[in-house]
Amino acid sequence: MADTPPETPKRRSGKKRLIFVVILILVTAAALAVGISLNLTLKDDEDDTASVPVKTARFLVNCHPDNDASKSRCEERGCIWVERTDADKKPKCSFPEAYGYKMAGDPEEHAHGVKVMLTRIDTPPLYGMTPYINLTVAVEFHTDKRLRIKIMPTDVHRFEIPEEAINITSPSQPPSNETRLYDVTFQTDPVFGLSVTRRSTNATIFNTSLPGLAFYPQLLQVSVLLQNSYVYGFGEHKHMSFRHDMNYRRWSIFTRDEAPVHDWNLYGAQPVYMNVEDEGKANLVFLKNSNALEVFLQPDPSITFRSIGGVLDFYVFLGDSPGEAVSLYTKAVGQPVLPPYWALGYQLSRWGYTNISDMWMVINRTRAAQIPYDVQWADIDSLFKQFIFTYDRSEWAGMPDLIQDLHDHHQHFIIIVDPGVGANQTIIAQAKNNSGPEYNMYEDGEQAGIFVKDANGDTLIGEVWPGLTAYPDFTNQSVVDWYEKYVRFYREHENITVDALWIDMNEPSSFVPGSIHGCNRTTWDYPPYVPQILGADPDGKMFDKTMCMTAQQAWGQHYDVHSLYAHAMAMRTDEVLKRVFPGKRPWTMTRSNFAGTGHYATKWMGDNRSWWSQMHLSIIGIMEYSLFGFSFNGADICGFWRETTYEMCLRWHQLGAFYPFARNHNAKGPGETTDFKHQDPGAFDQRFIDIVKQPLMTRYRLLPYLYTLLYKAHLEGDTVMRPLMFDFPADLKARDVDRQFLLGSALLISPVLEPNVTNVEAYFPKARWYEYNTGEEVTSVGQTNNLYTPLEKFNLHLRGGHVIPWQTPALTTYESRKKDMGLIVALDENWKAQGELFLDDGESDVNDTSYSTISFQMEKAGEMKIIPKKIDYSPSEPLQFETIEIYGLSALPQSVFVDGVLHSQQNIRYFNKVVQIIGLQWSVLGSHNITWSVY
Ligand code: NOJ
Repeated sequence: MADTPPETPKRRSGKKRLIFVVILILVTAAALAVGISLNLTLKDDEDDTASVPVKTARFLVNCHPDNDASKSRCEERGCIWVERTDADKKPKCSFPEAYGYKMAGDPEEHAHGVKVMLTRIDTPPLYGMTPYINLTVAVEFHTDKRLRIKIMPTDVHRFEIPEEAINITSPSQPPSNETRLYDVTFQTDPVFGLSVTRRSTNATIFNTSLPGLAFYPQLLQVSVLLQNSYVYGFGEHKHMSFRHDMNYRRWSIFTRDEAPVHDWNLYGAQPVYMNVEDEGKANLVFLKNSNALEVFLQPDPSITFRSIGGVLDFYVFLGDSPGEAVSLYTKAVGQPVLPPYWALGYQLSRWGYTNISDMWMVINRTRAAQIPYDVQWADIDSLFKQFIFTYDRSEWAGMPDLIQDLHDHHQHFIIIVDPGVGANQTIIAQAKNNSGPEYNMYEDGEQAGIFVKDANGDTLIGEVWPGLTAYPDFTNQSVVDWYEKYVRFYREHENITVDALWIDMNEPSSFVPGSIHGCNRTTWDYPPYVPQILGADPDGKMFDKTMCMTAQQAWGQHYDVHSLYAHAMAMRTDEVLKRVFPGKRPWTMTRSNFAGTGHYATKWMGDNRSWWSQMHLSIIGIMEYSLFGFSFNGADICGFWRETTYEMCLRWHQLGAFYPFARNHNAKGPGETTDFKHQDPGAFDQRFIDIVKQPLMTRYRLLPYLYTLLYKAHLEGDTVMRPLMFDFPADLKARDVDRQFLLGSALLISPVLEPNVTNVEAYFPKARWYEYNTGEEVTSVGQTNNLYTPLEKFNLHLRGGHVIPWQTPALTTYESRKKDMGLIVALDENWKAQGELFLDDGESDVNDTSYSTISFQMEKAGEMKIIPKKIDYSPSEPLQFETIEIYGLSALPQSVFVDGVLHSQQNIRYFNKVVQIIGLQWSVLGSHNITWSVY
């Protein structure tokens, strides 16, 4: 449905479309030198006057974000100091208006874009570094909706993310000037700036004309002015709201083993944001830079990027909607991986199963309680001394049989793989004793030369769960054979027939700073400027909880590739699983990640807490990862660290049953002997089991819809779990909603996120919405409604306009996939709906010939056509649509014709405001039509 355009917030007057308008003003170095020798301190509201050579800037870009800012230190940098109270979040020290670069000549047009040379305005250097005087700005027009802006030193080679990691190719044919959605203009006065304007709205969406452009060997800075303050993204962090607080917030980006508890850099590195423009169009911007960086969010609204390496390499994607912006982005960096169908089932995991009997107990009681359950996970507990690809033959004797039993029940098994390879010779000897002499991971790795090397070229040794550890260099292609050997060893020699892999601790994490020998005091481990990454303070070291920045990897020095470690691990794991399961679809779950990792692995949100607040944060985190191009995301249901409670765990299941990835995972207790209580549903009472079964069964019933969404995410870059704002971008209220979420466009989930609460304030944008269980239509839309939600109830609403395929649920996806299917037809205000169904065997490699799609269309109210669009997969056993449920009719239809034949009245029911038409017996791959008349 069409949303009404919003009132424009913070509208910035659009510049006239003007290509390559250059205003050159000569500023001599001498004049500036005079300027900086003057007293630069201005009062906050003091106007710039012609007599002050160094002008205060209209936009305040922080010139002293590092510790110990003072007036004198600020002025030494050529910046302007303004005294402010502590309550005032504006920076005290900011760059003057004319701090940055100027154009050194006219922009040069070329086939794919335009190039501009810059020269630095002479100002005092920062942090004792020598600045690059000459920069090149290369703008490439990639497509009508995508451009690249790269700022780099002229004629100097610097680290860039290798193409093997992310390959955004520039199309051979540039877009034509007529069809391009954007224009690029330049300014040089008072500093160089580049603006991207969206032609259709004349809005300037990306404008670097702010002071402070800086380029040093270990500090790159640029600021970007946006159209408005609807900014989302950047990760991985614990953000308190999905929409960013632009009031001088600072976020650092550098992968780190850090739980979502503090305001710091966490596991993933996602230098990606989205700005939803006034009219509801959206642009997404990716800074292709893997160095430690931070972003400063300012109310102008603007963003300052500060990285300590690489180049400034921006990709701007202009979407007609937030969803399209994500899709354009994922088409460039890699569309989300499609998990096997069984991965959509409910899963149990914990760290702290005391032994195999403990795991058996959980499996057995879950089965006995008849809880839908597809996957059992094993953490480091079952490993021998926490050595990967082993199992402890005493406490976990019988592990192969347990896995076989899961497989016999059509359930699946996943185990953890940490990167760290045990390097302690004494324990290696014990591991060989446990697993046989073939277990040679460390020696084989040394021989193949695949471990990360320290600055001297020796294998770098850190410490993780197995004690001393060597780290495979996953950026080295040769790692794949070695890795494959041990996945095969595990499956074929040890009979641990894993179905997928869980890669963890891959930030990479280490329990000792840098290495067991520490790190030398180099400019890489102690850079002149250190972003506000956790662990760097107070002495400015970069290697806290990870390896030395001087470590050597195939893609480059660890300083540059640190945040790509997990990305490379995910790529190689995917490759190994494809080799081990030829023709099958691999599934890897990762904790750490970079932009584009969603193409190889799925993401869970790491070590959350069993706190109520974390339920809300999980929604924000998962929605952010949707924006980053990961479609199959989830957070640990019931919380990881700490003891959950009955009510929290129950409410969390009502929420988590609708995460794309639904896994209940718990931590080991705080001490050696005091484990947290089990939190699988069977650990609670019968009432708990009865209540959580409802959302879990509903999940299983709706899996064909969820799977179709994941397919579309994989093929087209759609998002799965997303904010309301994605579907209602012009609705300003929806832009701030993050306690509810959509699954695709059709399902709205409004969970209880607090204790002792039986009501939820839920916002319903203007559309037709129906209560899933009762068919009751929501009468007040475009507003917040109070939903009565006692403990046994969860809020799931269907959006009119959608046809949602479902399947009779069972206790595993295997069983469910054999059962009858049905369709929910939720009518919109024109009494129409449409939808789609993807069908395949749920496990083969996805290619053009592996799936079928069926489309549900209503050109006229009261008439739906079921049209197979592509039939390349047929279920091995006949599968049929048996029931259609229509939401939105106020009475029983007078007549229903199925494929032109009057349907028996007995097979038409009006139940709970839902019209049910049963007894269809349609083959899912056939063409059909159904008509109904109400009046
Ligand atoms: C950290 C992971 O985030 C967590 O899920 C896991 O249980 C522990 N490592 C132990 O392997």
